[in-house]
Amino acid sequence: MKRIKVNLDKKISTSYDITIGSDIRDRIGLMIMKDYPAGRYVVITDSTVAGLHGRAFMDTMKAAGLTIDLIEFPAGEKSKNMETALCLIKKLFDLGVDRNSLLIALGGGVVGDITGFIASIYMRSVPYIQIPTTLLAQVDSSIGGKTAVDLPEGKNLLGTFYQPKAVFIDTKFLETLSDQEYKNGIAEIIKYGVIDSEDFFQAQESGIEALKNRETSHLLKLIEQSCRIKKGFVEIDEKDNGIRHILNFGHTIGHAMEAESNFTMPHGYAVALGMIAISRICEKLHNLSVNETRRIEKLIAAFDLPPLIPTEIPTDGIISRLHGDKKKKDGKVQFILIKNIGKPFWNGGVDRSTLVATLEGMRK
Ligand SMILES: NC(=O)c1ccc[n+]([C@@H]2O[C@H](COP(=O)([O-])OP(=O)(O)OC[C@H]3O[C@@H](n4cnc5c(N)ncnc54)[C@H](O)[C@@H]3O)[C@@H](O)[C@H]2O)c1
Ligand SMILES: [Zn+2]
Repeated sequence: MKRIKVNLDKKISTSYDITIGSDIRDRIGLMIMKDYPAGRYVVITDSTVAGLHGRAFMDTMKAAGLTIDLIEFPAGEKSKNMETALCLIKKLFDLGVDRNSLLIALGGGVVGDITGFIASIYMRSVPYIQIPTTLLAQVDSSIGGKTAVDLPEGKNLLGTFYQPKAVFIDTKFLETLSDQEYKNGIAEIIKYGVIDSEDFFQAQESGIEALKNRETSHLLKLIEQSCRIKKGFVEIDEKDNGIRHILNFGHTIGHAMEAESNFTMPHGYAVALGMIAISRICEKLHNLSVNETRRIEKLIAAFDLPPLIPTEIPTDGIISRLHGDKKKKDGKVQFILIKNIGKPFWNGGVDRSTLVATLEGMRK
């Protein structure tokens, strides 16, 4: 088992540990019992995770001695809203949950975001622990304390910054994950290499087969390094006022494409396409070498993340969403760009014609 500490400013938040291992569920129960004592515990999860892992998880938690209940909601982003939050809050009241209780988010990013949100407002806040079960949640959403629900006006528009007491990552959960959800996580792992570390990028290039085959030892290394990179940004900029924006690499264009597809395009695909577009822009405007652009494209393609923008998503639709975006200055859209793999920079405004040409170049 590996342990990483997220060191936060004591005046704002308490620091916490991320524990990573494989098949460590029984130990998670014992660690929660010992290190995070509470009058009672409530697991919040979604219907899919409840069906696959709920019973076994509850059995190990009870065996460790925890007084624990489980509540669930229907799986999927469509549940990430105030209605679900209020419904879960009502169930917490019915169970008699008070400030001496602790919530446990068992699931992907949707479960983590909504549980963190509820924990931050229920009775003016109760503690919570993240146990992420998707690859995306294990390398990204469970760390950093951003909580949210969606509004009809847009995603994540209602939320708080509220750090968990601990994060426990068990790669065993990933065995039941669909290929598509697995690839969503891979896109984020590739992003970490591109924005933070040429060495990490190289480790991914030489471990393609191992990652495809979900080899435990390789996954453990990649998850650990991803968590280390993310926590580094969170420690410096907990409230996302500056340097944490770098984690949005590939996401501004990605989000525009996701929205333009009416959220039918998987997040990982959108981020992969966003990263390719930005790399090509950096090649045109900022001397990123052709070789590095190709390496990024090749790594993305190795996991069957698509290199081409589907025809149903028109260039002008993407551009007008980007221009409606708040990150705009002097008529240019602002992106996180890279000088080299591992060397990001901000404030690289990109003009409309370069954007159009780049997106059009990704059609065939
Ligand atoms: N808070 C943050 O910093 C942050 C960062 C990135 C993304 N997010 C949010 O995270 C969400 C996306 O997260 P996600 O991709 O994990 O989505 P998700 O939680 O919807 O999970 C994807 C699907 O996988 C299923 N699933 C979960 N674990 C499983 C397992 N072990 N085996 C089989 N199926 C499993 C879920 O039931 C769901 O159907 C979005 O709402 C996004 O806004 C938050
Ligand atoms: Zn993402």
